[in-house]
Parts: sequence; C-alpha cells; structure tokens
Amino acid sequence: MDLPIPEPREATLPARVLVLIEEAERRVPAILEKRTPPGFVCSEFERVGRAIQGIVEANLAAGNACCEWGSGLGVVALMAACQGFHACGIEIDSGLVDEANALAEDLGLDVEFACGTFVPEGGEDLTDVPQEFGWLSAGGACGHEILGVDPEEFDLVFAYPWPGEEQVIEDLFERYAGDSALLLTFHGMEGLRLRRKIAGGAARP
Ligand SMILES: C[S@@+](CC[C@H](N)C(=O)[O-])C[C@H]1O[C@@H](n2cnc3c(N)ncnc32)[C@H](O)[C@@H]1O
Repeated sequence: MDLPIPEPREATLPARVLVLIEEAERRVPAILEKRTPPGFVCSEFERVGRAIQGIVEANLAAGNACCEWGSGLGVVALMAACQGFHACGIEIDSGLVDEANALAEDLGLDVEFACGTFVPEGGEDLTDVPQEFGWLSAGGACGHEILGVDPEEFDLVFAYPWPGEEQVIEDLFERYAGDSALLLTFHGMEGLRLRRKIAGGAARP
C-alpha cells in the first residue's frame, strides 16, 4: 500500500544529521577519485533524511529496526540511527563497507554494516531481470545472516534501485519483509516512494 510521505513539522533536519551529511558529502569525491565502485551513486541525503524525519514524527514505523539495502557509504542507515532507529546496512562492495564503518566510527554512531548481499537466501529467482547495465550484484554472502537478523524483523527498509530494478526490490520486500514493514525507496528525479506491506496483500498500489 502506497503512503504519502509525511512533511516534517521541523523546518530543518536535526543538527547531528546535518553534520553527518556535510561530512559524507566531503568524503564522496575522494572515494570516487580512488575508484568507481560499480553501481554506486549516492541518493539525495537531505531529501531522504527529511522523509525519515517525517516517518518518525508521524510514528509510521511499527518499531525501530531499520536496514539500508545496498548501503554504499551508509549515510541513510546513519541518518536513521541519528533519528532514533536501531539501524544497519548491507553492502556488497567491501571498500564501501570500510568507508561506511569509518564514517560511523568517526561520528560516534553505532551502526553495523555487513559486507554481503541483501538478497535473502532463496530470493535469487526474483533478481533475474533483463538489464544491460544493472547495479544489482548477484552472489555474495547473505548480509542478513551476517547481521544475525531476519529480513522480516525490519520495520523500515531503504533502497535506491536503478531504473528497471525497482521491481526486484519491491518483490524481495513483498516476499521477505514482515507485515506492516515500511519500504522507502529513492528514484532519482522521480523522488521518493513509501509503501507499507499489508498482511496477505501486495506492496504494489
Ligand atoms: C545506487 S547505490 C545506493 C547507495 C546508498 N544506498 C545511497 O542511497 O546513497 C546502490 C548500492 O547497492 C550496492 N549493491 C548492489 N547490489 C547489491 C547486493 N546484491 N547486495 C548489497 N548491495 C548491493 C552497490 O554496491 C551500491 O553501493
């Protein structure tokens, strides 16, 4: 079920989140100068942070467990942690996991990043999309297993799928997320989308 993203009451993001975004944006060029991790593009942190702020203020999540699927530099998971979630991230690229851990440590944020795939075991059939240039990496250790958390335990999942791969995220969420979990996705120019998994129903509108 699609939900409108609540407009936050506060005019600005919490100071901790603003500091985090500034620091992340300072680090990104240096990371990309060293190498370009395949499929790595940052979402618009401030926009995503505002959406999380709106979700928190409106008390939309059933609990405080959050996971960023394909966490890159980990900024969304870190922003969620700053806003009261017990957050983690799963990222296939070990270099990015190192960067996310360094950012978390430097900012004193307690967020775990697993190096592996967010595709739960048995979900590989849902990832087979005919894409010439896809960001979704096949294979890798199961990130949920590394974290010791079942995907159905998350109350909020965030992902930034490349065009053409939105359905994979939606289908994985629909199959593995817990009832009433929220899926927040970023779609570049098209902005953000928020859905709730309804027991026995489809996440699609
Ligand atoms: C578009 S980037 C988004 C990064 C970050 N979530 C953000 O919003 O800034 C997608 C990320 O997913 C990672 N990725 C691709 N396939 C993955 C998989 N199967 N499991 C975990 N991470 C994956 C890529 O390495 C990349 O860092």
